[in-house]
Formats: sequence, structure tokens, C-alpha cells
Amino acid sequence: MAGPEGIPRAVEILLAGGLVAFPTETVYGLGADASNHEALARLYHVKGRPRAHPVIVHLRSAQDLDAWARDVPAGALALARAFWPGPLTLVLQRADRVPEAVTGGHDTIALRVPAHALARELLEAFAAAKGTGAPAGLAAPSANRYGKVSPTAAAHVVADLGAEVDLVLDGGPCEIGIASTILDLSGKAPVILRPGKLASADIERVLGRPLESAGEAPPPAPGTHPAHYAPRAKLKLASRREIIEALVTNRGRRIAVLALEVPVSRLASGLGIVIPAIAAQYARALYANLRVLDAAGADIILVETPPRTAAWTAVHDRLQRAAAR
Ligand code: TXA
Ligand code: MG
Repeated sequence: MAGPEGIPRAVEILLAGGLVAFPTETVYGLGADASNHEALARLYHVKGRPRAHPVIVHLRSAQDLDAWARDVPAGALALARAFWPGPLTLVLQRADRVPEAVTGGHDTIALRVPAHALARELLEAFAAAKGTGAPAGLAAPSANRYGKVSPTAAAHVVADLGAEVDLVLDGGPCEIGIASTILDLSGKAPVILRPGKLASADIERVLGRPLESAGEAPPPAPGTHPAHYAPRAKLKLASRREIIEALVTNRGRRIAVLALEVPVSRLASGLGIVIPAIAAQYARALYANLRVLDAAGADIILVETPPRTAAWTAVHDRLQRAAAR
């Protein structure tokens, strides 16, 4: 592990085709040179991700968009101006030179400029080392094994991937805690593929038009697979009443509880976390909390169903996927 002082070494590793995990404001990413086929092959292997599932390419600024995408619509530029660097990923038509391995064979590419200071420093240093003219992008899926809980701290990355990562840059706990909002601008109408902290209303304001809802048949995109982001223990959404009933009638199962505010956890024989019903705070701590309950040996994690307001959309999305396993 290293802090900002590790950046020169991180760049060397990336240029040599190695893997560097780095913090972003959302979750930790597992980075590889997006122009290097062998590095990408290793990235997919370590992550255990099917080759047809594309990864997000991280750029130092929107000025590099043209190296990776073509026919970039005006809406994309307006969104980049408004929200980059930040937790928004744009799916665009890919430029011809983009390696197949990055896009999983799709005609589109997912691009994002992250906001975390260490990520930005890394991207700047990587671009400088590549030199002018050479497109500099880091392919970086969340730094966890495929289908598992995303890492929101450097220690999570080490615990999940260990020696298979050449270097982990430690930038502290992630501010947002769940991965970026993904907006597909490659088709006729803009569509949210993955909800995140950045809300549809904010995007609609900048685009000046309402977003198509992904509806019943969202485009098949990985990470939008129903069973994803799952802890080891079985996860179930439950009302407060159901939680109390389960705890009272429990026979032998190790039940963990992720409750909102009121300390139901005291009933849970020590296996409980209480978190205030504030969406941003809840999201920031969500994966770390699931890891703690997993590590405590829970058989089942009962998650008290959060409120149904817009602020909780992304949290509900992740909880439902974690429960679908
Ligand atoms: O916040 C984030 O987005 C984090 C940090 C590290 O930046 N990254 C992240 O990457 O979550 P990953 O690989 O775990 O998620 C990538 C998602 C896929 O699940 C897929 O849905 C979408 O990006 N994606 C990538 N390329 C795509 C494409 N060409 N078309 C549609 N969706 C795409
Ligand atoms: Mg992921």
C-alpha cells in the first residue's frame, strides 16, 4: 500500500502492464492501461469477470473524450461540464481505435472523470508519462471479485485481491460508497443504466429533457445483472416487525441486522449495526457494514427496508441486487 508518494511507482507499473488499485470518490477501482491488451486480459482474469462485460475507462479530463468516443452529443459535453470530475459515467459511441477488450465487443464505451484527488493525480501522471498524442485512459472496474461487495477502503482491496494487485494506493475511505451513475447517451434517448448518487433529476436539469426510464427491459449491461454486489451471508430486506419476529423466533441461525436508527441490534446477540436513515451516510457505509456483518459470521443479514424516496434510489438498487443472489 502507498499514499501519494506511490504515484511514480504506480505509473511505472501501469506502463509495464501491471494492475494498480486506486481510490475514487465512489469506490476503489482496479486500474489497468486501457490501451494495453495484456494488461486488460490480466484485469479480467484477476477480477474474474466475463470478457463480454465492458469496463469503465477513467480519463483525466473531458478534453480526452475524443480519443475514446466519436459523435459525442452536445448533451454529453454539457453533462461533463456540469458533473466532471464526479460520480457520472457516460456511455458513448466508441472511437475506432479503442481495443475490443475494453468494450467487451460492444460499439459503445463507458467513460468517466473521477474526482478523488489521488485518482486525478494518478491520471495526470499516467497521461504525462504516456506523452502527447498517446491516449491515456485507465480501465478500472470496482476492485472486488466479480459479483461481490465493492471495496470502499484500501484494506478491502487488499483483503479481496491481495497479492494479485501490484500496488494499492490508499486514499482513505470513499466519500460516496456506491459506484457512479451510468447514463447511456449512445442511443436515441438518454437512459440511466445504473442509478448512483447523482440523481436523474440533476441530469434532466442539465439535458433540459426528461430521461427515459430503463423500464422493464433495461439493456443487458453487467453490474445491472440482478444478482450483484453480494455479501457471503444471505441478505434479505425486511420491515422492522419482520426483523423483530425473526430475532424472537430464531433457532440457531446467526442473524445479523442492519437497522435504521432504533437499536433493534441489541436483540441481535451482538450482530447488529444501526445506521441513521440519511441516504448519503447510509450509502457511504453500506459495503463496509456488510463486510463487518459477513466477517462476524452471520448466516443471514436482515436489512431494514430504507425509505422509498428518490434519495434512496441507488441504495435500493444495490440492496435488491445483493438480495437477489
Ligand atoms: O464508480 C464507478 O463507476 C466505479 C469506480 C471505480 O469508478 N467503477 C465501476 O466499474 O463501478 P465496474 O466495472 O464495476 O462497472 C462498470 C459498469 C458495468 O457494470 C456496465 O454496466 C457499465 O459499467 N458499462 C461499461 N461499459 C459499458 C458499455 N459500453 N455499455 C453499457 N454499459 C457499460
Ligand atoms: Mg463492480
